[in-house]
Amino acid sequence: MIRSAICGIGAALPRHVMTNSELETKVDTSDAWIVQRTGIRQRYIAGKGETTVSLGTAAAQKALENARLGVDAIDMIILATSTPDHTFPASATEIQSNLGMNHGFAFDVQAVCSGFVFALVTADNYLRAGMARRALVIGAETFSRILDWHDRSTCVLFGDGAGAVVLEARSSKGTINDTGILASCLRSDGRHMEKLYVDGGPSTTRTVGHLHMQGREVFKYAVGMITDVVDNCFAQTGLSARDLNWFVPHQANKRIIDAAAHKLGIAPEKVVITVGEHGNTSAASVPLALAAASRDGRLKKGDLIMLEAMGGGFTWGAVLLRR
Ligand code: UT7
Repeated sequence: MIRSAICGIGAALPRHVMTNSELETKVDTSDAWIVQRTGIRQRYIAGKGETTVSLGTAAAQKALENARLGVDAIDMIILATSTPDHTFPASATEIQSNLGMNHGFAFDVQAVCSGFVFALVTADNYLRAGMARRALVIGAETFSRILDWHDRSTCVLFGDGAGAVVLEARSSKGTINDTGILASCLRSDGRHMEKLYVDGGPSTTRTVGHLHMQGREVFKYAVGMITDVVDNCFAQTGLSARDLNWFVPHQANKRIIDAAAHKLGIAPEKVVITVGEHGNTSAASVPLALAAASRDGRLKKGDLIMLEAMGGGFTWGAVLLRR
C-alpha cells in the first residue's frame, strides 16, 4: 500500500520579536499574567513586506532544501491559512508562482488552527489515491493583521509565522512499522462558531474583520476534543501513548497542552512545546513545532509522532505518523 511520508521540514518567522514587556506598553496586561495563563513569553509579528505568502514561500523553500528536492519534484501545494494575502486567488497559487512552479496545482484549505492537520490529511489522500507523488503542505498565518490590538484578551495570544513539510508517496508493507502517516482523524462542529470567529468577510461586511474569542469557553472544549481524536488514531492502529516518541500539539496555550498530555498519559518529556517562543500561530503552529524539533535533532528516523490541533469552527483533528 501507499503511505505518505514526511521527507522535508522547513519554517519561517517574521523579523520582529514582540515580547510580553512590549505588549505591556500597548494594553493593560502583564508579563506575569500572560506567562502564568498561557506560557507565552514572546511572539513574532509580521512587518512591512512580510505576508502570509512571503512567509509561506520561505518555509516551503526551507522544506524543499531539507528534502534535497527541487520544485520540479512537487506535484501539488496545499496551503492552510485563515489569513490569505487576497480574498482570491488562493495564496497557495501565489506561493506556487514564487517558487517558480508552473506545473501541478495549488489550493488553500481553511480550518483555522486545525488547518495544517486538515491540509496534511488532504494531501495524504491525494497521494494514496495516486493523483500526486509529492506534495508541499504549508501552514502560514499573519494573525497580527486580524487582531484587535485594543483587546487584551486576544491580542496577547497570537503570533505570525509559517511551517511546511514535503510529503512523499512511498510503497509500504501496510504495517504499523511503516514510515509515513499511519492514521488520521478529522472533526468539526459548526454550532460553536460564535466562540471563536472573525467579524468580517467579503460576503457579509465586505471587510476583513477582527478576531473574537470566548477564551474560557474554547478552553472548556479543547482538552476533550483533542483527546478524542488522538485516542481515535491510537484505536485505528492498536498503538498507545506508551509507543509515542513525540507529541506535537497545536500551540495555543501551555495549560491546554499539559492537560491534554496528562489525560492521554503522555510523559511531559515527549511533548514538543514552542508556544513560549511563537505564541499561537494558528495553522502554522504544528509545522513550526515540527520544524523546531527536527532542527534540534529530537525527531529521529523511525520515531512515532502524534500531531493534533483544535480551533475555530470548531475544527479538530489528529495525525499519527512515523518519521
Ligand atoms: O487556537 C485556537 C484555540 N484557542 C484556544 O485554545 C484558547 C483557549 N483559551 C485560553 O487559552 C484561555 O482561556 C485564555 C488564555 C484565553 C484566558 O485564560 P483564562 O484563564 O481562561 O482567563 P479568563 O478569560 O477567565 O480571564 C481571567 C481574568 C479576567 O479578569 P476577571 O474577569 O477575572 O477580573 C480577564 O479580564 O484575566 C483577565 N484578563 C487579562 N488580564 C491581564 C484577560 N486577558 C488579560 C490580559 N492581561 N491579557
